[in-house]
Amino acid sequence: MPPDPHPPDAGIDAAIARAAELVRDADALLIGAGAGIGVDSGLPDFRGDHGFWRAYPPLAARGIRFAEIANPHSFEAHPALAWGFYGHRLALYRATVPHEGFAILRALAAALPHGAFVFTSNVDGQFQRAGFDADRIVEYHGSIHHLQCTRPCSDAIWSAAEVAPQVDPATCLMAPPLPACPHCGALVRPNILMFNDSDWLEARSEAQYARFRAWRTRVQRPVVIELGAGTDIPSVRRLCETQHAPLIRINPRAPALASGPGVGIAAGALEALRRLREALAD
Ligand SMILES: NC(=O)c1ccc[n+]([C@@H]2O[C@H](COP(=O)([O-])OP(=O)(O)OC[C@H]3O[C@@H](n4cnc5c(N)ncnc54)[C@H](O)[C@@H]3O)[C@@H](O)[C@H]2O)c1
Ligand SMILES: [Zn+2]
Repeated sequence: MPPDPHPPDAGIDAAIARAAELVRDADALLIGAGAGIGVDSGLPDFRGDHGFWRAYPPLAARGIRFAEIANPHSFEAHPALAWGFYGHRLALYRATVPHEGFAILRALAAALPHGAFVFTSNVDGQFQRAGFDADRIVEYHGSIHHLQCTRPCSDAIWSAAEVAPQVDPATCLMAPPLPACPHCGALVRPNILMFNDSDWLEARSEAQYARFRAWRTRVQRPVVIELGAGTDIPSVRRLCETQHAPLIRINPRAPALASGPGVGIAAGALEALRRLREALAD
């Protein structure tokens, strides 16, 4: 039998080889990350109602969608449930060990003169946990590890380190006392951009973004590696596509590039990064 001219992995092999060339030509690495980068660490993405409800069965039982709970109104209407959802996630992200792909990204960056900057819509703090420099991360939608007042009574944003959430997995309700604002006593909420959210205090993310802009102007030939960014909330995709730089898009289901130079890799983050490391070692 003649050899199969299109073995199943040929597309990925060629894409990995192209990605390795792009990394070799770069002087810096911009990492764009969405929820999918955490899947290989065991974290859920919230893809569609079913993906979300698989992760939160008590919310499925009540028919509550992601956009309904991730909403400032839910802190008014159902404070123990809203805190149950975010408290559970806070505990989950604290307990999660970032997969090896994060270390591979750090090693790629260490070989480049300008190192890496991270732009992520994730609120989970996994890049900091993986040892990335906190001054080189934009958490564009905020961070679950930071808090603000629900009113808000001031511009204060502070660490969530003191919050030790007790959440009943059967009901998704957080046990009292719910965290209170040290300034005015009102309920506190995560410093995260939610749906229909005019109360989010964005100063922390804006300061991060200003640091990113300063770095970006110093860099001449960045390569962008985008991992696990979905299409529904395209903040990460948009940033990655508008850098006038080659883009390596890693996504098992939606790897196609809109336009511009670069390559899509139809694989999970961990597998793609392991293969990229191998290709760069050749
Ligand atoms: N961990 C978090 O912080 C977290 C988790 C869920 C949602 N969110 C928030 O919800 C919104 C969701 O948008 P989003 O685009 O980040 O996520 P999304 O759930 O819309 O999309 C996830 C993407 O990851 C891809 N994916 C699945 N498995 C993967 C893997 N193993 N490796 C690489 N990619 C994989 C999927 O194909 C999909 O395109 C964002 O605003 C984000 O802030 C955050
Ligand atoms: Zn307050």
